[in-house]
Amino acid sequence: MLGQMRPKVVEQAEREFNLHKAWLAPDFDALIDEIGGRVRAVAAGTGMRGVDAALIARLPKLEIIANFGVGYDDVDVEAAARRGIVVTNTPDVLNEEVADTAIGLLICTVRQMLQADRFVREGKWRQGPFPLGASLRDRTVGMVGLGRIGLAIARRLDAMLVPVVYHTRRPRPDVAYRHYPSLIEMARDVQVLLLILPGGAATRGLIDMEVLEALGPDGILINVARGSVVNENDLIEALERGVIAAAGLDVFENEPDVPARLAALENVVLLPHIASATLHTRDEMGQLVIDNLLAWAQGKPPLTPVPETPWPPARG
Ligand code: NAP
Ligand code: 8YV
Repeated sequence: MLGQMRPKVVEQAEREFNLHKAWLAPDFDALIDEIGGRVRAVAAGTGMRGVDAALIARLPKLEIIANFGVGYDDVDVEAAARRGIVVTNTPDVLNEEVADTAIGLLICTVRQMLQADRFVREGKWRQGPFPLGASLRDRTVGMVGLGRIGLAIARRLDAMLVPVVYHTRRPRPDVAYRHYPSLIEMARDVQVLLLILPGGAATRGLIDMEVLEALGPDGILINVARGSVVNENDLIEALERGVIAAAGLDVFENEPDVPARLAALENVVLLPHIASATLHTRDEMGQLVIDNLLAWAQGKPPLTPVPETPWPPARG
């Protein structure tokens, strides 16, 4: 196990397997030198050490990488697939939690709730009311990504009477929202861009100055996807120069390091990657990691293999 998970998860893993807690090892390389030849399963996750091709190469008996998190951009799935190693993730159990956070972040950003909170704490209310500001009432939200979580967010926006459109590579046949094949065209037409798509090489820097300029000076960017999807330098410049109005961010390029220039801005709401971070949902995610490992250990199909490594594995 590459990083610490909830106690229940660690206890179950300890009961069921011969568990090595890599985060406690003073020297990770020395640990892999010692046990790498015997490791058959890895439990990984965002915020922990990644599982790259070099690490996979040092684990010749590896059969499964069970990822804590629906996003698995820190796992080299191509390297795993070439070796017939199955990668599992934790889809669906976090949809509603992440959608709640996305909506909370959207409202906090548009209505400047954290700025208003500071205004009260600093005693400024006594000098006069908090200035009137932006509204969701005159906005269309352009979703970048409309998968499991995106749809849970869109349903909440429906209930709030906020129009939704979306950009993905392929339109969904099961929704009535307008699909934009072009991200730039959608950015021009909407007043909020809400990112909820995978990170990794295919989406790196997708949101750059050109997209932010298309979103425009009243535009708001909400990112609950991955920091890598946004060119952070372009975003900071856009926020500083008023190219867009504001941003609400749960994820950053180099977590946990957030650039001082970004943290210094008044027109941002910054969260420390907490979209799924509740006891309830982290327990559900952890249980799914264990259930995937147990199924594999019993010779059954893992419950949630990622599309790049279907079960049974194709050995290449
Ligand atoms: P999902 O069901 O696989 O949906 C992914 C969506 O992104 C699909 O609509 C997909 O449509 C679209 N997409 C993929 N590549 C794209 C591209 N290059 N351009 C435009 N759209 C693209 O995934 P999910 O369960 O909703 O999760 C989405 C992501 O949210 C995860 O991968 C993770 O990175 C992030 N996440 C973050 C947190 C957090 O704590 N902040 C929590 C959970 C998840 P097409 O395939 O048709 O393009
Ligand atoms: C978690 C996430 O923060 O599921 C994801 O892709 O980003 C979040 O749910 C993360 O996986 C915890 O390590």
